[in-house]
Amino acid sequence: MNTSVPRRVTAVAALAALALGGLTGTGASARPAEAAGAAAAPDISLTAVKQHLTDLQSIATSNGGNRAHGRAGYKASIDFVKAKLDAAGYTTSLQTFTTSGATGYNLIADWPGGDPNQVLMSGSHLDSVTSGPGINDNGSGSAAILETALAVSRAGYQPSKHLRFAWWGAEELGLVGSKYYVNSLPTTERSKIKGYLNFDMIGSPNPGYFVYDDDPTIEKTFKDYYAGLGIQTEIETEGDGRSDHAPFKNVGVPVGGLFSGADYTKTSAQAQKWGGTAGQAFDRCYHSSCDTTANINDTALDRNSDAIAHAVWTLSAGSTTPPTGKVFENTADVSVPDNGAAVTSTVNVTGVTGNAPSNLAVGVDIVHTYRGDLVVDLVAPDGSVYSLSNRSGGSADNIVQTFTVNASSEVANGAWKLRVQDKASADTGYINAFKLTFP
Ligand code: TRP
Ligand code: ZN
Ligand code: CA
Repeated sequence: MNTSVPRRVTAVAALAALALGGLTGTGASARPAEAAGAAAAPDISLTAVKQHLTDLQSIATSNGGNRAHGRAGYKASIDFVKAKLDAAGYTTSLQTFTTSGATGYNLIADWPGGDPNQVLMSGSHLDSVTSGPGINDNGSGSAAILETALAVSRAGYQPSKHLRFAWWGAEELGLVGSKYYVNSLPTTERSKIKGYLNFDMIGSPNPGYFVYDDDPTIEKTFKDYYAGLGIQTEIETEGDGRSDHAPFKNVGVPVGGLFSGADYTKTSAQAQKWGGTAGQAFDRCYHSSCDTTANINDTALDRNSDAIAHAVWTLSAGSTTPPTGKVFENTADVSVPDNGAAVTSTVNVTGVTGNAPSNLAVGVDIVHTYRGDLVVDLVAPDGSVYSLSNRSGGSADNIVQTFTVNASSEVANGAWKLRVQDKASADTGYINAFKLTFP
């Protein structure tokens, strides 16, 4: 029975129904991220978000009272956000464009890791109008996604999807920055964006709780979050084309977002369910000089910031526990020669689109009387080697363990090998099973 030929290879493809564009559904629970196995989003600190707003206010104040396209306050805002992201380990890039005779900037920040073929993007415009500092419009969205991005870094979060954040320039001149980004993106790159989340005005002083109505999975993720807090939401109807999600939606990217209201008037029915003042605009300082740090409702900003983190975590996590993924297993026994040559057990992965995930689960089951003899590697289809165990564990026996491997640079389909070599004489054993789980 000294065979290295797999006698049974099973592929269990219990593929979860992938909602539009590949965002995984979240189930009926009000707090889906806390379901088994998924990392829960952290609570976003209102104090931290408000500190970013104070800093943006200072930038406006020391630059003529605004942070508008083409003005010094805009570039200073970009530099401020970029420095924080660089320090947190993001890969940032500035995209420049020209409009109204001035250079504009988009800031793009990528969190390393995740499936490069499945991108979850979140964006907010960072420019203000010229008439004021733009703290609710749109320091609020900018600060909230900044703090969410920093929370990703602090948590060392390893999402299944690749996370990208964007701060757009010249939104107030007609979505110029976001249009430029979408138009410059090659079609193949566009199709990798499985969702775009937009946050423009989320701390309105007389707030409403509006959820964009586009992709059902994204919409449900936000609605479920608010339902869990016992807060009613309404569909955003104040103008579908009025912010930076529009260029994404126009090319078929699933979009979603949150909004707490601009110049429309809060009705008495809305004041009943949300509090605040009926007959008054959601934001009386919309596009005015009074859109300062005083023009923020802390409760709305806090809830919306937490909802953003919840959505970023939930929509990027992919499936959570093994039975929902694709499992490939080889249970043939492969004897490992004592102090001898390396042997392998192979599984053939088929039907998985694109690259392997950043959290490939590698199930190793080796029966052996002294694990300290063993060098154990995962070998990708192209021959890349990932070390799993290198003569570790001393005199303990057996290696029965699931290793998590960042295999996101490997094409998923093909022959993956578990390679085992026994490097010292006396103790012996065999590979009992080798299993790959694609979440
Ligand atoms: N984008 C608008 C601005 O910056 C604000 C706005 C009005 C808005 N209606 C909206 C944003 C609906 C999102 C959704 O001036
Ligand atoms: Zn805005
Ligand atoms: Ca040995």
